[in-house]
Amino acid sequence: MEHLYITDVAPRDGLQNQPVHLDASTKLQLAQLLAKAGVRSIEATSFVSPKAVPQMADAAELLPLIRAALPDLRTSVLVPNLKGLERAHAAGATEVAVVLSATETMNRKNINMGLDQATEVSEQTLAEAHRLGLRTRAYVAVAFDCPFEGETPLDEVLRLAHRMQRAGAGEIVIADTIGSASPGMVKQRMGALAEAIALDQLAIHLHDTRGMAVANAWAALEVGVRRFDASVGGIGGCPFAPGAAGNVATEDLVLMAERSGFATGISLDGLLDTVDFAQVQLQRPLGGRAITWLRRQREKRNS
Ligand code: HMG
Ligand code: MG
Repeated sequence: MEHLYITDVAPRDGLQNQPVHLDASTKLQLAQLLAKAGVRSIEATSFVSPKAVPQMADAAELLPLIRAALPDLRTSVLVPNLKGLERAHAAGATEVAVVLSATETMNRKNINMGLDQATEVSEQTLAEAHRLGLRTRAYVAVAFDCPFEGETPLDEVLRLAHRMQRAGAGEIVIADTIGSASPGMVKQRMGALAEAIALDQLAIHLHDTRGMAVANAWAALEVGVRRFDASVGGIGGCPFAPGAAGNVATEDLVLMAERSGFATGISLDGLLDTVDFAQVQLQRPLGGRAITWLRRQREKRNS
């Protein structure tokens, strides 16, 4: 059976925009529940300015807790610049992700740099991460549409993905930041990217603003993509991208993949336990499109 590789980004993308701020020990419990469910890779936190994202201010406290409790879990952290990398390395990071947006305005809003500077800073950060012996990922954000500049030219996405590849990024993560992609766009863009980037280096990061993330994931699967970001309970969204809603829910992606003959190694019951925990902590109902059906199945099994 073919395997689908899922990185759960709930601890970072999921929590960075929540009105309720969780403390480090609660975030550790979230990571532990994900690992217990069979998730093998997470994005744990981000080393960004605490003024910009107060929810991630505890990154240097949290990462060592996760590394100590879950040494076998692949744990990436987002770093926007060399300062973030330096802080992440000091906290014991083994994998870092840089974030480059494909438009001028989105970079300015997100990391206070223009496109050229953001590209150079991402390249420098990747180079330094290699020197330190860390694994790397590079996001290409707003790879479909930008909330400020409209549809992003595909050529620009290809150009930046190549730059990140040449800079040595282990994985290039193509992101639909505001969840505006359609399956047709995903097929076209990921198909074009897959001609230039090896499939084991290419990932997709979908948001579900328009309810199309699972359909978009299927379109990516059809062109050979096997690496997906997702967020348990569907939580997520970039605070600097107006209109960005949650990520594709991990439970929806796992259900779709397993029903279509792919192995994920992730237990849906384990994910439900994680959603239950997260919704108590975040004090609101959570879950992807299939959550009601999944809960009903669990009740039937347990009755
Ligand atoms: P800036 O204000 O331009 O930075 O922010 P600066 O270089 O001028 O420095 C200002 C202060 O910030 C200085 O401190 C620096 O030391 C400090 P001061 O001298 O005033 O005390 N600083 C830092 N502190 C902690 N960590 C750092 C860091 N860098 C500088 N890494 C900066 C630039 C990038 C820091 C800021 O804009 C920032 O933190 N932005 C946050 C971006 C963010 O987290 N966005 C959300 C994640 S991206 C996302 O969600 C999209 C994604 O999911 C994919 C998708 O869906 O598209 C990945
Ligand atoms: Mg995101």
